[in-house]
Amino acid sequence: MKKIIIALAFLALPGLSLAAGGEGYPLEKAPLDLHNKASLQKGAKLFVNYCMGCHSLEHQRYNRMARDIGLTDEQVQQNLIFTGAKIGDLMKNAMPKADAKRWFGVTPPDLTVISRSRGVDYLYTYLQTFYQDPTRPFGVNNAAFPNAGMPHVLWQLQGMQKAVYEVHKDHEGNEAKVLKGFELVQPGSMSPPEFKEAMVDLVNFLAYVGEPIQLERQKIGIWVLLFLALLTVVFYLLKKEYWKDVH
Ligand code: HEC
Repeated sequence: MKKIIIALAFLALPGLSLAAGGEGYPLEKAPLDLHNKASLQKGAKLFVNYCMGCHSLEHQRYNRMARDIGLTDEQVQQNLIFTGAKIGDLMKNAMPKADAKRWFGVTPPDLTVISRSRGVDYLYTYLQTFYQDPTRPFGVNNAAFPNAGMPHVLWQLQGMQKAVYEVHKDHEGNEAKVLKGFELVQPGSMSPPEFKEAMVDLVNFLAYVGEPIQLERQKIGIWVLLFLALLTVVFYLLKKEYWKDVH
């Protein structure tokens, strides 16, 4: 009996996850490259300019970031620190949490591990799918995070877009509006391809921040493989040496 129940539970699992996912807006795959230092640097710049007013990276230090993304401490100090922080400090923002809560109704979450908790494709889609919605407090809604409490902070870059819906009829004739895509109603300072590229950089940066050791691990991995290859050669020569007299 127990076995049957467990088997049934497993059968129900995919259904459950589908139910949770619902008819959500499809996520777009983020074409990331953690080795692209130029992209990481551009992402860091976008982050400190457009996100850090509200969000912190409380587990990341400026100097660690500098080293990992290929900048000097001076470059970071001069171009990426606006909060008066020192190079060895954690990347905290200047906004007191209580004020943030009062202004937005929710505290903007720390984003250090957001790439891991939500996934990079989600972030990539989220950042590109703010659209006009006069019923929301900031006049915008989001396709990946319906009713998000965050304003469209990148509207100057992306411009403003409106939602395009498709009407679906089910077999009983009920109509439902399904979000299909977007139409730019007011251009931003970037063209759509430029904005997309910028969002790749920003998500690339957040992916790095989520797991800074990734970069190192891959480097270590290469050395481990080289070491193993070398050992193989040594052992092969040794084996030849040992067996020489046996034959
Ligand atoms: C003006 C303040 C403000 C700025 C600037 C801002 N955000 Fe937010 N952000 C918020 C608030 C408030 C929330 C919480 C929304 C909610 O939970 O409804 C949030 C939530 C988020 C989330 C979490 C979404 C989720 O699924 O939980 C992500 C990711 C995010 N912001 C990314 C960014 C990025 C990247 C930038 C810079 C381009 C940025 N934010 C700039 C206020 C801000």
